[in-house]
Amino acid sequence: MSFASRSAQALRAVSRRAPRTAVNVVSKAQVASYSLLARNAVAASSRTPAVQMTTRGVKTLDFAGTKEVVYERSDWPLAKLQDYFKNDTLALIGYGSQGHGQGLNARDNGINVIVGVREGGESWKQAQEDGWVPGETLFSIDEAIKRGTIVMNLLSDAAQSQTWPQVAPLITKGKTLYFSHGFSVVYKDDTHVIPPPDVDVILVAPKGSGRTVRTLFKEGRGINSSIAVWQDVTGKAKEKAVAIGVAIGSGYMYETTFQKEVYSDLYGERGVLMGAIQGLFLAQYKVLRANGHSPSEAFNETVEEATQSLYPLIGQYGMDYMFNACSTTARRGALDWAPIFEKTNIPVFEKLYESVKNGTETRKSLEFNGRDTYRSDLAKELKEIDDQEIWRAGQFSLLTE
Ligand SMILES: NC(=O)c1ccc[n+]([C@@H]2O[C@H](COP(=O)([O-])OP(=O)(O)OC[C@H]3O[C@@H](n4cnc5c(N)ncnc54)[C@H](OP(=O)(O)O)[C@@H]3O)[C@@H](O)[C@H]2O)c1
Repeated sequence: MSFASRSAQALRAVSRRAPRTAVNVVSKAQVASYSLLARNAVAASSRTPAVQMTTRGVKTLDFAGTKEVVYERSDWPLAKLQDYFKNDTLALIGYGSQGHGQGLNARDNGINVIVGVREGGESWKQAQEDGWVPGETLFSIDEAIKRGTIVMNLLSDAAQSQTWPQVAPLITKGKTLYFSHGFSVVYKDDTHVIPPPDVDVILVAPKGSGRTVRTLFKEGRGINSSIAVWQDVTGKAKEKAVAIGVAIGSGYMYETTFQKEVYSDLYGERGVLMGAIQGLFLAQYKVLRANGHSPSEAFNETVEEATQSLYPLIGQYGMDYMFNACSTTARRGALDWAPIFEKTNIPVFEKLYESVKNGTETRKSLEFNGRDTYRSDLAKELKEIDDQEIWRAGQFSLLTE
């Protein structure tokens, strides 16, 4: 199996996490208007009803003993959504992974969307391929901001900082400023992004790549997103955030603050989601190899079984289920070693959280991603990972029939 298909499978497994958190959300009466995601949830809801309904579409859920408010798209049928935005133009600035996913979903939802990117750049080309028309729905960044009522800043985080002197004067009173990450405004001492005081400033941060935002939408499902308000001038900022969340393809929306969103996001991706998992895979693989195990054995016992067999079970049914699906021998050892890994890693995670909180991670990211050579520098580092034996072992080729 190629690595590409492995990653695709892993992504699908990630998207299946949603039903677990959404399990208690839906009542049977609501099935008709629901996505596949919600229909899955309905099946499960008959087993574990634990929802406190407040108003339709807004639920208080019990997450391991902590009550949290969740917003869902069932409260926003398409006609209501289109009516809500009938006088708005969503000006999507930047057309990377999120711009693509959020923009196309909002456009397919019948919302008036335009795109603003650098003329002649990679994104300009990509946007045209996706059907955005120069002079009609595709403009320079400045022109799109001028035409938009809701300015969705989906430039790279480093570019948001670099372009702010040009963007800021165009965010005039009455417009809404939207982000998908708390990065720029929370770390304002480093980014210098300080929104004008007379505009609503809101956030919808999908919990997945923009490609997943698009894929789930096309499957009739919705991504989980965080929503937050930084500045509420109109008194309608939160409602607007929920509505845009639905427009760009969210299924369930979890309320947070800009600060908590950016802290948890930077921490999570450096930790278990990306950085820690690469470090842990590599450490395990290296010790197996140092003890004479073949590359295939070390790879199978580290990556293959994890991604193809066991981790999808965690995503679908939980850690206890995955443990139970394994042998008694495996279970005993895993139960004994889990607390050792936990204890060993807590100081590392504490150090990481502090590095996020004090802005060290932000400054590194701004410096690296602000370089003219950031794309080639990144490609070089990723190539180094790709060249590691563990990943080359995963791309085995058939030498004989
Ligand atoms: N990707 C994710 O998984 C994810 C998930 C949730 C939230 N977010 C957040 O969503 C936002 C957008 O992220 P993304 O991953 O979609 O985009 P990205 O790949 O980080 O940024 C791409 C966009 O930034 C533009 N850009 C870069 N440097 C520029 C400059 N100096 N001047 C003008 N434009 C410039 C690019 O245009 P050119 O093609 O012209 O260079 C492109 O349109 C960020 O705040 C990110 O943190 C991302």
